[in-house]
Amino acid sequence: MKISYCLWIFLAVVRAKHESYSGWKSYYVTPSTNNQLETLGHLTNTLDLDFLIYATIDREGLVLVKPEYQMTFEGAVEAAGISFSVHADDVKRQLDKDDELFELRRNLNRNSSQAEMPYDDYQTLDVIYDYIDSIAEKYPNLVTLVTPAHSFEGRPIKYLKISSSYFQNETKSVVFLEATMHPREWLTPPVATYSIHRLVENLTDPELLDKFDWVILPVVNPDGYVYTFERERFWRKTRSTDQHPSSDVCPGVDINRNFDFVWNTVGVSTSPCGETYAGGRPASEAETRVIRDILHENLPRMVLYLSIHSYGSMILYSWGHDGSLSNYSLPLQTIGVFMAEKISERSLPDFPSYVVGNAKLVVGYEMSGSSHDYAHSIGVPLAYTWELPGLSRGLMGFHLDPRYIKHVVQETWDGIVVGAKTARIVFGK
Ligand SMILES: *[C@@H]1O[C@H](CO)[C@@H](O)[C@H](O)[C@H]1NC(C)=O
Ligand SMILES: *[C@@H]1O[C@H](CO)[C@@H](O)[C@H](O)[C@H]1NC(C)=O
Ligand SMILES: *[C@@H]1O[C@H](CO)[C@@H](O)[C@H](O)[C@H]1NC(C)=O
Ligand SMILES: *[C@@H]1O[C@H](CO)[C@@H](O)[C@H](O)[C@H]1NC(C)=O
Ligand SMILES: [Zn+2]
Repeated sequence: MKISYCLWIFLAVVRAKHESYSGWKSYYVTPSTNNQLETLGHLTNTLDLDFLIYATIDREGLVLVKPEYQMTFEGAVEAAGISFSVHADDVKRQLDKDDELFELRRNLNRNSSQAEMPYDDYQTLDVIYDYIDSIAEKYPNLVTLVTPAHSFEGRPIKYLKISSSYFQNETKSVVFLEATMHPREWLTPPVATYSIHRLVENLTDPELLDKFDWVILPVVNPDGYVYTFERERFWRKTRSTDQHPSSDVCPGVDINRNFDFVWNTVGVSTSPCGETYAGGRPASEAETRVIRDILHENLPRMVLYLSIHSYGSMILYSWGHDGSLSNYSLPLQTIGVFMAEKISERSLPDFPSYVVGNAKLVVGYEMSGSSHDYAHSIGVPLAYTWELPGLSRGLMGFHLDPRYIKHVVQETWDGIVVGAKTARIVFGK
């Protein structure tokens, strides 16, 4: 009796949690021509579409559509001849189902992964922060914990500098990896924590510390991250309320539109209620400034910057605001392909293979003020937005089944290592 009562309470709490997605639907869309891809790009702005996975030509995307736009959306997509199907008929119901599955798994696993980071589950902010604190404490000769700023709601933003020479050796190359700029992308912090693990706790390739210094920022946006666990699963922005008179009603800024590079021009929402609101001014957000400052501080030696996102199996580069190619497009493309090929050596059969290319040309959608464009514009030769794989057709929910997390972080690490080494050969001192 007692048990079922508790279960009932738990389910009731979970149900209330996803209320704001009641009546939303998610759709698979598969454009097969460039025109169709661009049509989706236009609809994104007019129908306030929210792509969880960007579509690219002949590769399906997954998009959330609010109740009031569903009829128009279906009509427009059909008229353009874009093939589509419903993924979840009621987003809230599917999220509830996902939660129940997670809870089940967690109960099964509860005894298995004690002190270690869970790579068979998603990681909460507390778990991640405890981990990086403990790593810094245990390996003071290798790891420096930096807390350069606090978020709008007052949470510390923390990153690790990992170096066998305290960042003092000017001939080493710097690699910068950050995750969780978009807090709903729960698969991304495990990539950062696993990278830390492989550099500090299980270094199998000494070259990675002999020739490189690393900056790893696992949670760019801690406010948003906590909010996705507690309130709105698909939250994408920060939680600031000081950007606009309407920010009290519609808080937050999309960090990936907030950088000072052709800021607030294309592919942004000028309304603070939009998912891609660029903010009241460039770099208005503490989270943006943390990334910006890391880029500038390490610029002379930085050969590779990776902004980790999910999902989509894509490695994207500049210029995203207009689709033109940068002076470095040849190395950007070549090294992107090296990383993708390394990953494909042991990628799971269910996952699509990586697409590598110019951000605008691959997703058919311009965006200004992104972090990779900003980094590239100030002189980081190789700057990528990296969309992790996930959500294969068989798993109907919104999450990659946690049992695949370990595989994803391992294959991704293989790709990162290849990227770092080739980047150093081409651009190192
Ligand atoms: C977890 O460990 C405790 C103590 O060893 C044990 O009593 C309990 O049955 C275990 N739970 C599961 C789900 O294995
Ligand atoms: C270290 O990583 C390698 C490569 O994945 C793995 O084979 C090995 O078991 C790991 N060792 C430890 C102690 O985790
Ligand atoms: C600095 O790093 C390079 C590798 O990039 C290494 O060859 C050299 O010995 C290091 N210098 C010192 C003083 O440790
Ligand atoms: C690209 O190269 C051209 C010609 O060398 C140069 O004028 C331009 O400033 C370069 N652009 C960037 C962004 O580096
Ligand atoms: Zn993202």
